[in-house]
Amino acid sequence: MKNELKKLEKAALAALEQVKSSADLDAYHTKYLGRKGELTGLLRGLKDLSPEDKKTFGKATNELKIELEGKFKMKQNEFEHAEISKSLKDEWIDLSAPGTTTKRGHIHPLYQVQEEVERIFQQMGFSVVDGPEIESEYYNFEGLNIPADHPARDMQDTFFIDKKADKDEGRLVLRTHTSPNQIRAMKKYGVPLRIIVPGRVFRNEATDASHEHTFDQVEGLMIDKDISIAHLKGVMLEFLQRLFKKEMKIRFRPGYFPFVEPGLELDMSCIFCDGKGCKVCKKTGWIEFMGCGMTHPHVLRAGGIDPDEYQGWAFGFGLTRLVMMRYGIDDIRHLTSGDLRFAEQF
Ligand code: DAH
Repeated sequence: MKNELKKLEKAALAALEQVKSSADLDAYHTKYLGRKGELTGLLRGLKDLSPEDKKTFGKATNELKIELEGKFKMKQNEFEHAEISKSLKDEWIDLSAPGTTTKRGHIHPLYQVQEEVERIFQQMGFSVVDGPEIESEYYNFEGLNIPADHPARDMQDTFFIDKKADKDEGRLVLRTHTSPNQIRAMKKYGVPLRIIVPGRVFRNEATDASHEHTFDQVEGLMIDKDISIAHLKGVMLEFLQRLFKKEMKIRFRPGYFPFVEPGLELDMSCIFCDGKGCKVCKKTGWIEFMGCGMTHPHVLRAGGIDPDEYQGWAFGFGLTRLVMMRYGIDDIRHLTSGDLRFAEQF
């Protein structure tokens, strides 16, 4: 009996060593520890022994049973752990990993500023209106009191389209400024009028860092009874202070534009040095901002408005220039390049 126990122990331990899978382990259990297994066989045989031997071998067989079951359990645990860690590895999700984001576009810097400009003027009771980029010579020039011999009418400055405009409005042109919308708006909406017209304009320019054939302007127009330059000053100072979010100064200088009389240039205190004088304002403390003036009676008449009853003012500034100055953009061509490395900086 003693020998049989020793043999069984040796065989069982050696067999356990050979177990490589959980299927092997099941087979092992059936063979040695199962109901019909070898150890159970030995235990059954105990009943035929003398009471003395029963006691000794009973104890030894039980000890062997405890040993083998213990080792079997350990092996079983090993397999279970291996399975769990494999499935953990397969299903592992790193919750701290950054998500994959969808690439989203954003508004171009030019139109971010345009929206700001629109909002400020809307807050002051101005409407934002639009007009055609392909204009007639009449609206772009004559209606605005720009005579046929004005240098702006030169082929060098204007893109002419090889086609006549409707009615008696001359040829078609790409608008060289947003000013034609002064007349369009007067005709369409009548008086009183408070509008701004942001939009693209086109000039036949040789392109360089500060000239482009396509750029953006904002036109403004206010017409009512008893309107003066004081209103223009008030509106523009308020506008600039809201735009740059600081106290500003403005000043007027005489300027010539055929569609205003008197014609003015508006300068603003330099936003970089607050008027102290720096590189940007060339030590003057002032930056040229726009052309403006009291709307010329010819222009009011072209818009169907009686200049003896109504008067108003108009202005036009370069949105492109404003954006360049604000962000220190040194080459106008960046703005229309479509280069994302540029646009994504804003
Ligand atoms: N249209 C002018 C330009 O493109 C700018 C301008 C000047 C507009 C004076 C105005 C104005 O309304 O009153 O240079």
